[in-house]
Amino acid sequence: MSRPKKKVYIKTFGCQMNVADSEHMAQVLAQEYALTDRPEEADLYLINTCAIRKKSEEKVRSLLGSLKALKQKRPQMLLGVGGCVAQQEGERLLAAVPHLDLVFGTHGIYRLPELVRRAFSKRQVDVALMEGFPPALPRRWRPGSAQALVTIMQGCNNFCSFCVVPYVRGREYSRPPAEIVAEVQEFLAAGGKEVTLLGQNVNSYGRGLSEPLAFPQLLCKLAELQGLERLRFATSHPKDLSDELIGLFGELTPLCEHLHLPVQSGSNRVLAAMNRAYTREHYLEKVARLRRCLPGVSLSTDIIVGFPGETEADFQETLTLAQEATFQQAFCFKYSPRPQTRAASLPDQVTEEVKAERLARLLDLQDSITLAALQRLVGQAWEVLVEGVSKRSDQELSGRLRTNQVVNFSGPPKLVGQLVSVEITEAHPHSLKGRWVAELSPASRRPVAEGTPRRLSC
Ligand code: 5AD
Ligand code: SF4
Repeated sequence: MSRPKKKVYIKTFGCQMNVADSEHMAQVLAQEYALTDRPEEADLYLINTCAIRKKSEEKVRSLLGSLKALKQKRPQMLLGVGGCVAQQEGERLLAAVPHLDLVFGTHGIYRLPELVRRAFSKRQVDVALMEGFPPALPRRWRPGSAQALVTIMQGCNNFCSFCVVPYVRGREYSRPPAEIVAEVQEFLAAGGKEVTLLGQNVNSYGRGLSEPLAFPQLLCKLAELQGLERLRFATSHPKDLSDELIGLFGELTPLCEHLHLPVQSGSNRVLAAMNRAYTREHYLEKVARLRRCLPGVSLSTDIIVGFPGETEADFQETLTLAQEATFQQAFCFKYSPRPQTRAASLPDQVTEEVKAERLARLLDLQDSITLAALQRLVGQAWEVLVEGVSKRSDQELSGRLRTNQVVNFSGPPKLVGQLVSVEITEAHPHSLKGRWVAELSPASRRPVAEGTPRRLSC
């Protein structure tokens, strides 16, 4: 009889890349550890951290502080910190947190089983950044899941002046296409439906590959695979969003009618100081081109307010850009100085009060734009991929439209993982309510008209 496995609990902070990395951690440890969602029974407690803003780092530090009590109660439990804060802090973290056993960086995931074994006898730090992508990546979707996150590249070469990512995730590296295709095929053979390709800047995919293949060609290859219903990708850098890629929206059937395109600021002066390599005009031109290809496409973005030197006039430019681009969703942040980055040492840092006040004004404006976009969906039926049941009731389901909005509706839990038709009945400031209309037959999943997101008649 085999020994029962020990238990690992993984707390994930940050972006989808971290979610994918946590799934990797679970997989590389799977021989010895089974995942648990109950921290109090963990033999190994891992925190996958985010360093993008000071606040995200503070959350990690406060969780680490509060875990002292659990560690005292369960001294045999190993406590490890991985991800971007681990990469940034290394030894310093071990020195600052006496009850911590293990620190591993963004490239340390694949050495995790060995590091954990060694951490039983001696505290461990591994923050080496490797050249290239680690070989033999394991699968990383949950068995039975209809959705998969597939990492296609790691690192970033852009050095936006506010951003810590190039320092904590290393240089850009593209994963060979054959590996990506094989992973997606395996996922589809297991019944998967939706794939999200991940990278810090997927538009520059392909640089440095032994057999060059650009991102649009990778999308075309994947879109042909039998069974792929939905294809998404994140994140795109506007400077690398080519006309060829824009042209694929509305052309490739699985490619969802949504693009996340971080703009960061509407002011050319600020964009230059951020080292973003595009102007407001370039950005809006790309948005217009995208909408000409696919009129119903929905756009989301990231915006930073209070970048060093940002004046009220610069901020006004951001407000007018948000209005002109009509984002369906915007993730808005107060600028946060990060270690090693160029912007952290720029003069004219904006005060906390001004940042907070600008953020509130931007959020007000964006809320009204988002609500108007959601209201336009009411009264029509849309294709929805059911993602899960709500915590409140197992008859409450939640899913996503191809255009990326979340909708909550009543239905049986057996629909999770299925494509269904949902009529939108109510629009709330940040969510939709709907009525389940039908399960979809493959024939009804075709777009209603070219260039139109898949709206379904009841
Ligand atoms: N301060 C505030 N927001 C930041 N982001 C990245 N670095 C910072 C920073 N130093 C935001 C950007 C990016 C998103 C993931 O996080 O908008 O697109
Ligand atoms: Fe950071 Fe810029 Fe790279 Fe995005 S493109 S990860 S914002 S440096």
